[in-house]
Amino acid sequence: MSLLDTPLTRQLGIDVPLICGAMYPCSNPELVAAVSAAGGIGVVQPLSMIYVYGHDLREGLRLIRHTTDKPIGMNVLIERSSKMYLDRMKAWVDVALDEGVRFFVTSLGNPRWVVERVAPMGGIVYHDVTERKWAEKGLAGGVHGLIAVNDRAGGHAGPKSAAQLLDELGDLGVPLVCAGGVGDEAAFVAALEAGYAGVQMGTRFIATDECGAHADYKHAIVAATESDIVLTERVTGVPLSVIRTPYVERIGTKAGPIARWLLRGRRTKHWMRTIYALRSAWQLKRASLAGGAREATSKDYWQAAAAALSASGTAPSARPRA
Ligand SMILES: Cc1cc2nc3c(=O)[nH]c(=O)nc-3n(C[C@H](O)[C@H](O)[C@H](O)COP(=O)(O)O)c2cc1C
Repeated sequence: MSLLDTPLTRQLGIDVPLICGAMYPCSNPELVAAVSAAGGIGVVQPLSMIYVYGHDLREGLRLIRHTTDKPIGMNVLIERSSKMYLDRMKAWVDVALDEGVRFFVTSLGNPRWVVERVAPMGGIVYHDVTERKWAEKGLAGGVHGLIAVNDRAGGHAGPKSAAQLLDELGDLGVPLVCAGGVGDEAAFVAALEAGYAGVQMGTRFIATDECGAHADYKHAIVAATESDIVLTERVTGVPLSVIRTPYVERIGTKAGPIARWLLRGRRTKHWMRTIYALRSAWQLKRASLAGGAREATSKDYWQAAAAALSASGTAPSARPRA
């Protein structure tokens, strides 16, 4: 049996067990379309589609459909930060269903409402998890698969290695996808051989022709090595892996004492998180679309994961080589 024939490919009806993970602010419709057209599956990040790339969600999904009719997914961030946000997310899920999307990747919070909304229409839900506790919560909510976000992932990494997560989650009876640190064919094959049903990649897809991020950001990814990546709390309040630019070096990586105190408080932590979310959305959008974060005056943050970029020094294409 082919290594590419896995529970993930069978469940989603795709040829290659490779997910291009949702990325705020790097997921543009062209990247999602290119990955799906090539046989993997691209995942739309609705906030990126709407607020970074300026598409109405339905129009953006139709744009993807001009390139490919293969399956695509959508990311559903389900943290209940506000009722307004939750209502908006539910409306986006309905638009996606209406436009034929049948794969949903949930992160943060309880995915039950997503399952209840999409499963009756044949939708499949995979839940991002960093440890067993969250996996069990997701499974109690009815998810069909798990994305094991390891300690090498871009965005918000988990505390455990890919091997530890396979051990910890391997007996749960659903397909497991490896997210974090995969940047070349060898690492992709290794994850499948270890027992993962697929791989979710992020960083490696930013430095592609199809990604809409600024050329300076792509070049910084291609040029960076593991030692250029640091974890900073200053963007979202929890550790986020970014490229060490002169600005990051100057400003440091720890949240300020007042922010840290507010993040700990039972009541203040929710609004502190909202403030961080709004500010980071704006900061990351600006950094992804504008160049020059290497300049000493720039205050931009470029997200990237160490392992995925050390694998190769050349910009890959979203299309697999023949
Ligand atoms: C720039 C960037 C933004 C990301 N944004 C999101 C997001 O909005 N939602 C999400 O579920 N995951 C997000 N992720 C995580 C990716 O979907 C994926 O799991 C991760 O990048 C895999 O690790 P890798 O970068 O080592 O390949 C992001 C990752 C990166 C690098």
